Amino acid sequence: MKGNSTSDIVLKLIHNRRSIRQYLDRPVSDKILKKILEAGFRAPFAAQLCSVIYTRDHERMKKAGIGVYPTAPVHMIFFIDFCRLEKVMAHRGHEYGYDDMMAIWLGMQDVVLMIENLTIAAESLGLGSVLYGLTPLRADSIAETFNIPKRVFPVVGMSVGYPDSAEGTEIRPRFPLEMAAFEDEYRHHTDEDIKICMKKMDEGYLAQGYYIKSQTKVDLIDKEDTIGFDMYSWSEHISRKFRSAYRQGDPLLDILRRHGFDLK
Ligand SMILES: Cc1cc2nc3c(=O)[nH]c(=O)nc-3n(C[C@H](O)[C@H](O)[C@H](O)COP(=O)(O)O)c2cc1C
Repeated sequence: MKGNSTSDIVLKLIHNRRSIRQYLDRPVSDKILKKILEAGFRAPFAAQLCSVIYTRDHERMKKAGIGVYPTAPVHMIFFIDFCRLEKVMAHRGHEYGYDDMMAIWLGMQDVVLMIENLTIAAESLGLGSVLYGLTPLRADSIAETFNIPKRVFPVVGMSVGYPDSAEGTEIRPRFPLEMAAFEDEYRHHTDEDIKICMKKMDEGYLAQGYYIKSQTKVDLIDKEDTIGFDMYSWSEHISRKFRSAYRQGDPLLDILRRHGFDLK
């Protein structure tokens, strides 16, 4: 991808983006933070259902139950925010009566679009980022730590900062495009297709030594682990995360209800 046209530059940024887990000891200024947050909120929205808390305080994140990468200078939590919208509605004399499940879906759409805009804006300013997917399970401690009202719910956490190139610059593989993007009709994947998907991902991660370098493995709590790091790759990692014996915290439904969402 060569050239200096706007599309060359934007596409290069997108294709070279990777999650950053090691950061330089270099602060991120308020000015830069404002720029990326503003860019984030330029994303399309269903109902402006996204709010963000950002902090440079590791202790706060710890108190909130989010284990952030230690060298990351700034952390963010992205929320679905119905509290603000309902206040707007009250001003207009309307009472909220929407289906909360659909509302959460819309909120999620707003939040993820905002995050991706922010991520790309951050990349354009030389910053990197990483997300923390288990954040919603920490909704109770997050609410307490950051003074979050009911009907405002965390979707995902993120750290942002200047990447330390010592971490490496490899780009993680993806499923082949034809296995995930379909014209007109869904592709009902055959065994052969699935093997192609797995090969692309597993060979890519193994070639980068991704799990062995970070010594990351999802523990098998109910059976013997017979797979060494030489064979442990993405498809095993992701399968272990989604198997029945892998449970994290309370069911999300219960947590959402505790935070004021009316879900049957
Ligand atoms: C919703 C979401 C949650 C994630 N949660 C975590 C996490 O908790 N810890 C982590 O190290 N990376 C996390 N990641 C980063 C992914 O592991 C990463 O995006 C994926 O392995 C692909 O690598 P890449 O971003 O470098 O292309 C998360 C990514 C997403 C989109």
